[in-house]
Amino acid sequence: MADNALFDLQRLHLSSTTPSTPSASASATELAFHLGALAQNFAIEWVESCDSTNARLVDAPPPDDGRVHVLVADRQTAGRGRRGRQWQSWQGASLTFSVLWRFEPGAPAPAGLSLTSGLALARALEALGVQGVQLKWPNDVLVHGEKLAGILVELLPTRGRPPAAVIGIGLNLRLPADAHFPGQTGVTDLARALDAAPPSRSAVLATLLAELLHLFDTYAIAGFPALRGAWEQRNAFAGLPVAIAGEGSTQFGICTGVDDDGALLLQTESGMQRVLAGDVSLRPLTGGTP
Ligand code: BTN
Repeated sequence: MADNALFDLQRLHLSSTTPSTPSASASATELAFHLGALAQNFAIEWVESCDSTNARLVDAPPPDDGRVHVLVADRQTAGRGRRGRQWQSWQGASLTFSVLWRFEPGAPAPAGLSLTSGLALARALEALGVQGVQLKWPNDVLVHGEKLAGILVELLPTRGRPPAAVIGIGLNLRLPADAHFPGQTGVTDLARALDAAPPSRSAVLATLLAELLHLFDTYAIAGFPALRGAWEQRNAFAGLPVAIAGEGSTQFGICTGVDDDGALLLQTESGMQRVLAGDVSLRPLTGGTP
């Protein structure tokens, strides 16, 4: 079963990818081993290099064959981050992959999918032994306040088809000592979070894919309301004063949680606000305008 999954994915021809090298093929084989029986749910392509795994799946989604398509790249030349930013990664130092998730015909536009993805990542990391995993709305994964992984969710144009989303995940495994992230403070990696050598990339990826599959199944049946409590348990800013930088303006308030659609709930001086997009940061209680 696993071999078939791997064989089929060799046939996917996604533009702007560098064909699999022996090492990428070996990683894919190892991944199938770690996934075991779950491998049959996935069509996995593991390439040495591409511009962005998200861009490849968004621009050229493979035909729906009932499986979840996954594109993994050893190296991205133009990794995309949230809000138009770049995502930096280093070969061998990061795990970068995207998952194409298709919803059942008739499913409503996905609400809370982004938070569900973050929750799956958090739970998978906990299963790998990471302690102190927290979620920063909408879906950054933090460990002791430092960013370990980021997620970029992009919805495909439906054009009369059921909704589908590309969920791109970048996880730092072991950053080079001189890694520099302009404009960003507090970045960590799995080696530090575990205080030990991390498992192989394929072992980590298998754990993440298993949890994504599990939570997306729950999400498809019961939606985000069924997962909201688990997300809120890991909310890094629960009950804290925050600033939310949006397009051209910043909102201030106390982060009280998220609603059933995954919107952030912000207690402000003018009442409870639902926030749909923005960058959240902790704000000191003293000084400044509320
Ligand atoms: C963020 O925190 O800003 C989101 C980062 C998402 C990065 C991943 S790496 C794999 C996938 N391909 C991309 O181009 N971006 C996502």
